[in-house]
Amino acid sequence: MPTTTTYRTLDGRACSKALMERIAQGASNVQKLRGRPPHLAAVLVGEDPASQTYVASKVKACEEVGFQSTLVRRPADVSEKDLMELVDQLNRDDSLDGFIVQLPLPAHINEERITLAIAPWKDVDGFHPQNLGRMMLGLPGYLPATPSGIMELLKYYEIPTEGRHCVVVGRSNIVGTPMSILMSRNAQPGNCTVTITHSRTRDLPSITRQADILIVAIGKANFIKADMVKEGAVVVDVGIHRLPDATRKSGFRLCGDVDYDPVAAKCSWITPVPGGVGPMTVTSLLLNTLKAAQS
Ligand code: GUN
Repeated sequence: MPTTTTYRTLDGRACSKALMERIAQGASNVQKLRGRPPHLAAVLVGEDPASQTYVASKVKACEEVGFQSTLVRRPADVSEKDLMELVDQLNRDDSLDGFIVQLPLPAHINEERITLAIAPWKDVDGFHPQNLGRMMLGLPGYLPATPSGIMELLKYYEIPTEGRHCVVVGRSNIVGTPMSILMSRNAQPGNCTVTITHSRTRDLPSITRQADILIVAIGKANFIKADMVKEGAVVVDVGIHRLPDATRKSGFRLCGDVDYDPVAAKCSWITPVPGGVGPMTVTSLLLNTLKAAQS
C-alpha cells in the first residue's frame, strides 16, 4: 500500500531556541539576586573526539545564555583516585551550581564510582541514583538531560501522549530506562502505556509496529526501517552516527538510529538528525543548571 502520511519535523533547534530565551532570562534574574550568573563546570578526560565536540557545545551553550562555564581537562591516564579527588573538590566548590563528568571515561576508571561520588545537588546530568529515584517517584530533582529534552520537545509540539502506546528501543541508564519511566508517569506529557525493548527482545519489528510513539536509542546507524514503523507514528531518534560519504567535503554525513527518509514518509512527526534530540540535550543541561542556581 502506498504511504500517504505527510510528516512534520520535531525541530529541536526551534524548541531549544525558545527554551534558551527563557533560560537567559532566568540567568539574568540569578545574576541580579546573587551577584553572579549560574555556573556550570564540565570535566573532560582524555581526547575522545566525540566527547570534545559534546563538551564544546555545552560550553558554547553556556555562553549563549549568559552562564559562566569552566572546562576542567585531565589526561586520559588520570588515575581514578585523582579524578575522585577532583569530584570531591567540585562538590565543595560554592562558586559552582553544578558540574558534569563527560562519559565515557577511559576503561581503567569505574564510571559508576565516579557517578556515585558526585553530590546529588550538583549532579545536573541527573545520573546519580538519588536523582533517578526522585524521578521515579515524581519528586523534584534533576532529570537526565536526553529524556528530559525529549519530554520538552513533545510538550513544545503538543504531541498527545495520554493513553498512547510508547515503545522505547534501548535500555541504557541514561536514555532508554529513564525515558520509559517519564513516558509512563501520570503527567503531561506522559501517561503512555510503555514497552521497553532491547537487544534480546524477540521479534522487535512486531512490537515497534505497535508504537504510536517510537523512541529509539539503540546506538546502531539506520537500524529502524520503514517496515518497523506504524503509519502515522511519532518517531524520536536519539542516535547520532558519522557515516563515510565521499560526496561531502567533510568526508562524512550524520545519521541517526532511524533510516530517515523511508521512515519519515510513514510518520506524522519525526526528529531529524542532526537538529532533533541533540540540541534539546544541551538545553536540558542548562535548565538543570539554572534550577540548581535558583535553589
Ligand atoms: N556522554 C554522552 N551523553 C552524556 C551526557 O548527557 N552527560 C555526560 N556526562 N556524558 C555523556
